[in-house]
This record gives sequence, C-alpha cells and structure tokens, in this order.
Amino acid sequence: MNRAPLGVFDSGIGGLTVARALFERLPQESVIYFGDTARVPYGPKSPDTVRRYAGEILAYLLGRGVKALVVACNTISAHALDYLAARCPVPLVGVIEPGARAAVAATRSGKVGVIGTAGTVASGAYERAIKALRPDTPVCAQACPLFVPLVEEGWFDHPATELIARQYLEPLQRAAVDVLVLGCTHYPLLKPLLARVLGSGVTLVDSAEETAKVVAQALEQGGLATAPDAAAVHRFVVSDDEPHFRRVGARFLGEKLQIVEVVPLG
Ligand code: DGL
Repeated sequence: MNRAPLGVFDSGIGGLTVARALFERLPQESVIYFGDTARVPYGPKSPDTVRRYAGEILAYLLGRGVKALVVACNTISAHALDYLAARCPVPLVGVIEPGARAAVAATRSGKVGVIGTAGTVASGAYERAIKALRPDTPVCAQACPLFVPLVEEGWFDHPATELIARQYLEPLQRAAVDVLVLGCTHYPLLKPLLARVLGSGVTLVDSAEETAKVVAQALEQGGLATAPDAAAVHRFVVSDDEPHFRRVGARFLGEKLQIVEVVPLG
C-alpha cells in the first residue's frame, strides 16, 4: 500500500476536469494538483516553451514526493510527453493515448474527429496515436482556441458559444466523423452544447474519463495503490491568482477547493 499522493498537472485550471474524473474513479487516492496559472495558456505557445515549463512543473511535483504523475493538459501531453518521461522516475500518464484508444474503440464508420488547442492540433499527436492503433482511420482535426476563454467565462451554454461551435465543427460534420475526441481540458464542460450541435450520431470521447481508467490500471499494476479505506487529502498549487482559481475551479471540479497554495516557478 502506497499512501504518497498522485501528482496531476496542467497549464492552469482546465486539468481539474481530469482531477475530477480521478477523484470519482479513485476516491481513496490523495492528489496534489499543480496549475501554472501564471503562464496559462499553453495552447498558442511553441513546443520548446511548453517543454521547458512542463519540465519545471515535473521537477516541482517530484520534489513533493508523488508516486505517479498525470499530465492532464492535452497541449503538454502533445508536445512534451516523451521529454517528461525521459526525466521521470515514476509512472507518467498523458491524456492523448487514452483518448485515442477510446476513439478507435467507439468509431463505427472509422472516421474520427479531434478538437483541441492550436498547439495540440498542430502537433499531430492525436492523429499519430489514432493511426498507430488503426492505420486506415481518417482523422479530421480542428483547433478551437476560442473555447478555452468561453469556458473560463462560464459560457457553457451561451448563444455566442453555440455560434462559434457551429463554425468550428462544420469541417468535422462535412468529413462525416462519428466520433469526436474532446482533446482539451476545457471541452468536457461543453459536452451538452457540442452534443446538441453535432446530433446523436456523433459519440463524444472525454479524454479525462479515459485517462482516469488508465491511471487506475497503472497504480494497480505498479503496486502503487493506497489502501481502499484510506482518507484522501487533495492539495492544489497554482503559480498565480489563487482567488480566480478557487472561483472558476469550483465549476470545473464540481466542489469547493479546500487547500490552495501559491508557488511561483521559473
Ligand atoms: N490545458 C490546455 C489543454 O488541455 C488548455 C488551456 C491552455 O491553452 O493552456 O490543451
């Protein structure tokens, strides 16, 4: 039995959707979450910058004694997973591979859509992961950069968000995808709106839920799980603007954030 916390990190607030999925699947595991709120967003930043920032967060969380790490951010997973894995002595799980696996399992037509930040889409990471599993799958990927600020504004079901979603999703509808991977931490909050725009013929794949399943398996296989009756303690660390993180974060997490520290990195 290993009572050390799981480390979870993201460019900011969005990774709380992954934390929430982890809390639901592994309620006995303690988590320390780092959100780089001083430097968010990572979506438009270069791969080198994302790798450098992510390396700093990795070093910080390893210093806090985590037993495994979850890269909740799609943009970090897309640009930096191998870079981080080479520097990480504990198991490391990203969100791309679990999302890709679920998409391949769910598609009937074999046509898969992916939405994400500009960086995630430009990296081609989802496309590579999907094609590694099923080489003949056409993948239609679309960057949706405006979704991140709209979600942080709480406009989950706002007419402006719907208008923008119709514009972004049009190429995916034309490509007749039957599965859409929500390849960004913020997008699970738009599920009802996206489902309405796309209709019931398109299955939405939530990388957060899929990642939580993979983390549960990794802990089990590595002998790293805590006792089933352990009392979990969740700590949140941000690099800036703790009040905003608390306020908006509660919406992402579905509950109040109890312990929040501010630790500037870099
Ligand atoms: N967390 C990022 C992601 O999942 C979205 C926010 C950002 O651009 O930093 O890609």
